[in-house]
Amino acid sequence: MDKRLAKRTFDISSFHVMDLLRRAKQLEAQGRDVIHMEIGESDFAAPQTIVDAGVKQLLTGEIKYTAAAGLPALREKIAHYYQQRYGVTVDTPRIFVTPGASGAFLLAFGTSLNPQDELLMTDPCYPCNSNFATLFDANTKTIPVNADSNYQLTAEDIQQHWTAATKGVLIASPSNPTGTLIAADDLQRAIETTNKLGGCFYSDEIYHGLIYDQRAASALEFSDDVFVINSFSKYFAMTGWRIGWLIVPEGFIEATEKLAQNIFIATSTDAQYAALAAFDADTLTELERRRVEFALRRDFLYENLLRLGFEIPVKPEGAFYIYANCRKFTDDSYQFALDLLEAEAVAITPGKDFGTHDAHHALRFAYTTSIDRMAIAIERLERFINI
Ligand SMILES: Cc1ncc(COP(=O)(O)O)c(C=O)c1O
Repeated sequence: MDKRLAKRTFDISSFHVMDLLRRAKQLEAQGRDVIHMEIGESDFAAPQTIVDAGVKQLLTGEIKYTAAAGLPALREKIAHYYQQRYGVTVDTPRIFVTPGASGAFLLAFGTSLNPQDELLMTDPCYPCNSNFATLFDANTKTIPVNADSNYQLTAEDIQQHWTAATKGVLIASPSNPTGTLIAADDLQRAIETTNKLGGCFYSDEIYHGLIYDQRAASALEFSDDVFVINSFSKYFAMTGWRIGWLIVPEGFIEATEKLAQNIFIATSTDAQYAALAAFDADTLTELERRRVEFALRRDFLYENLLRLGFEIPVKPEGAFYIYANCRKFTDDSYQFALDLLEAEAVAITPGKDFGTHDAHHALRFAYTTSIDRMAIAIERLERFINI
């Protein structure tokens, strides 16, 4: 170990699923047909309209830095999207185009968290969000959540866990890994409670758009005093383009601008031009077709996992994940995932990548592959658990 490594590098966790991915690659190199249900990205490519818009700009050769906050035209389109989709008016200066939701988190936490500040979030949750707080020497306090609250924080949780050190609350809805939503009135109460306590409210809305049964409310419907993190990665299927956005409270505009200039200079220019086509009618029609396909996949996987004996106390309403309890088969979901990969070449993500709360009984299945492929995966899974 190099003694010069910063302490925070030890506090930042790495993904256990990487061990599985490495093994999956080896198995594939040996000719095994691995079914990938561990991957948190759409199997669809970015819509052609988006690709064309990006290529068109690339061919001009004009790929210079943009303004740190992003192309004005793109920020206006994002503002228009909020008007259309959520009926809220967002002033364009509050919108920052960022290198993915990840870049948005860097700016949101970088402008608001001091060392030793505490951030409340759920267990289970997407681990990078907590690691971003660690990067700024802040602490995360994870609160175990269960099916009774849709695996989301409640206003009561916030009130109960708030201490003098608490600076803010992070909610991700739909959640990764559970795919569950916070109800609109619960979101409103969580925001009001946080605001009353004088904290920052961060709403990770990256899976908005991928919602199957009801409409999801944005935090912006209830307050302007929130940070909203979103991205072109998931619904718009642009993971590798590295582009997302952040909406900040009025008082954070200047600081965010300064930090964005210093950390990134700007988000990649070709991705920004490509994203200009993301809200076009043709693009949205194609994305809607995909959303319907994801809903069918969710239903297929949900019904089959239940049939096999996995427990899924809340039917996930969004994202592309099912977080299933496997206690009927094992008390070690990580070993289960490793053994399943070895025996049947199906790759899934173990619960311990998302926290510690009952993680040894949890597995995340991503339906980022076709129903035909998932049908084979289910056959293999059935054989595996019946041995
Ligand atoms: C809940 C959540 N937030 C943020 C991210 C980061 O996404 P990106 O940086 O690609 O926009 C992810 C990626 O999987 C996620 O699941």
